[in-house]
Amino acid sequence: MKALILVGGFGTRLRPLTLSFPKPLVDFANKPMILHQIEALEAIGVSEVVLAINYQPEVMLNFLKDLEAKLGIKITCSQETEPLGTAGPLALARDKLIDDSGEPFFVLNSDVISEYPLKEMIAFHKHHGREASIMVTKVDEPSKYGVVVMEESTGEVEKFVEKPKLFVGNKINAGIYLLNPSVLDRIELRPTSIEKEVFPKIAAEKRLYAMVLPGFWMDVGQPRDYITGLRLYLDSLKKKSPSKLAAGSHIVGNVIVDETVKIGEGCLIGPDVAIGSGCVVESGVRLSRYTVMRGVRIKKHACISSSIIGWHSTVGQWARLENMTILGEDVHVCDEIYSNGGVVLPHKEIKSNIWKPEIVM
Ligand code: GDD
Ligand code: MG
Repeated sequence: MKALILVGGFGTRLRPLTLSFPKPLVDFANKPMILHQIEALEAIGVSEVVLAINYQPEVMLNFLKDLEAKLGIKITCSQETEPLGTAGPLALARDKLIDDSGEPFFVLNSDVISEYPLKEMIAFHKHHGREASIMVTKVDEPSKYGVVVMEESTGEVEKFVEKPKLFVGNKINAGIYLLNPSVLDRIELRPTSIEKEVFPKIAAEKRLYAMVLPGFWMDVGQPRDYITGLRLYLDSLKKKSPSKLAAGSHIVGNVIVDETVKIGEGCLIGPDVAIGSGCVVESGVRLSRYTVMRGVRIKKHACISSSIIGWHSTVGQWARLENMTILGEDVHVCDEIYSNGGVVLPHKEIKSNIWKPEIVM
């Protein structure tokens, strides 16, 4: 079986992190976002993953070479010379997706995190026997997603409306599809949107079916959702593999800490914290609802909550970062600095307090 992951887009909503890495390579819960998906695909026996790329292909390709060897799954790239949207890349990768088997293939948005119930999706697709299956999930604020109106008992989709201005329902497209090869006959090789141009047509012909996704789901392409997604992910990890969570008197709630991390005396860490490889957390530090990428140093008595700290940054002693403070790569926050929602671009040194949410260039 094959799969295509949509890896394009500029990831503007996740700046400044995406100024250093393409969005799929930004760490989530201590590994690049895209690895969560590739591992899930590999686990159900997908033999080849095609990455539809239009942005920073070199960085991506280097990373994938290592990964291919490690995971034993074939990973190929389908590179656009102009952004082809969410459907055009399928037309471009047509030859890679179709083989003699006539099997359906998976398509995934690269920024969604869930338990990836892909086996259940295959069973659902076989059961209804139509052209395309999509996964849906319920959200409180559907307007920023693709909304799906469906017949509850069968899953038959009546309507698909991308980013509706008026309320049509609260079940939304989760960005995980299983499509028969015939769907490719509906897509031209030009910039085009699967949500606006392809799904509404298949739905009108009653050949699109939706399955309600079991478990948690989050599009982690924006900082606030990224932090919420981490909480949901860690909750699910606690239920499924509790041994992966950190334990000890300095840990509160769900926390993951890479094995290479050094933690000093008297820290209090959690809930909902991820600390990536090579980080050093000095003594007396307080961290909550917070994620640290690789190679970060947090100095003595710093206190950080609801924030994201980019790769190889340092946070000075007694510093206090909160309220969606996002540090890009290689940012240095001086001692005793306060940041209330500062969004700091890569390679900056922060010498004065940031009193209200603002971008520091
Ligand atoms: N290759 C390629 N080329 N990929 C692209 C392009 C492009 O031109 N444009 C976007 N993508 C990729 C993004 O990287 C992402 O993985 C996926 O397509 C969806 O794009 P987003 O920009 O993240 O869209 P969205 O979050 O506003 O909406 C989409 O996701 C929602 C769920 O998170 C839609 O599919 C909605 O219907 C859906 O509800
Ligand atoms: Mg998205």
